Amino acid sequence: MTIDLADKVIVVTGSSRGIGSKLIKAFSEENAKIVINYNSSEAEAETLYNKLIQYNPNCIKVKADVTSMDDIKKLYNETILKFGKVDVLINNAGICDDNLIQAMSDEQWNRVIDVNLTGVYLSCKTFSQIMIQQNFGKIINIASLKGQEGCEGQTNYSASKAGVIGFTLALAKELGRHNISVNAICPGFIVTDLNRHYKEKKKLAERRSLVSIEHNLDDLINFVLYMCSDKMRSVSGQVFNVDSRK
Ligand SMILES: NC(=O)c1ccc[n+]([C@@H]2O[C@H](COP(=O)([O-])OP(=O)(O)OC[C@H]3O[C@@H](n4cnc5c(N)ncnc54)[C@H](OP(=O)(O)O)[C@@H]3O)[C@@H](O)[C@H]2O)c1
Repeated sequence: MTIDLADKVIVVTGSSRGIGSKLIKAFSEENAKIVINYNSSEAEAETLYNKLIQYNPNCIKVKADVTSMDDIKKLYNETILKFGKVDVLINNAGICDDNLIQAMSDEQWNRVIDVNLTGVYLSCKTFSQIMIQQNFGKIINIASLKGQEGCEGQTNYSASKAGVIGFTLALAKELGRHNISVNAICPGFIVTDLNRHYKEKKKLAERRSLVSIEHNLDDLINFVLYMCSDKMRSVSGQVFNVDSRK
């Protein structure tokens, strides 16, 4: 099966590092037109951009904090200015800031909800404008299994990701009439800056998985490539667990 993404304009929020940067590289290799978004990791975004632009001229990078409507509008406007359309929006930007409930500060709570949930709302609200005009579009929200099963010390993160799942299901119902699909993905455990300091989390993920977690990242990338392509056209309002959790 060939996955053809040539001419598809794909925006990935939070793509300076981690899963987002891996998605961007994979899209670029499939000749998609890509928008790298970063907030604080300018150097990483610059390195990624410089690497990709050597063989893919259809690549831009835009600094935008997903919690700011002004920044999201800038991301949107620069995308439209360069490419004139948006085929796929991937809401990937996310953070965690763990604490037990009695020790959690309001700042920790608010920041995680703002980035992980309000950021998804702001970008979907903005990017769905052009998708409605096009009568086509795909929105993929990166949620988490923690949003389904909860995690000790992560009430803020778990609540934000449960919110993303509910938001996805509701938005799919609203936008289906415009031929826009909205789906969520809950990835398996993947070592990134988000979790590399918590060695016990990887061990726990290994213990709780039916098969090796070694290929979780590749499986996620391949799954998203498929979702972005014309091979998948009639699937919306779904939550996909790309994982083997018991
Ligand atoms: N890794 C896993 O095992 C796992 C499992 C389930 C779900 N997820 C989800 O997958 C997504 C990516 O996670 P990751 O593991 O790749 O994390 P990561 O390596 O820490 O990368 C996070 C990305 O989000 C961006 N970001 C953070 N705050 C932002 C903001 N306010 N505005 C714009 N971008 C922002 C960061 O960009 P800057 O550094 O430029 O700010 C960075 O590119 C997250 O939504 C996460 O919850 C991850």
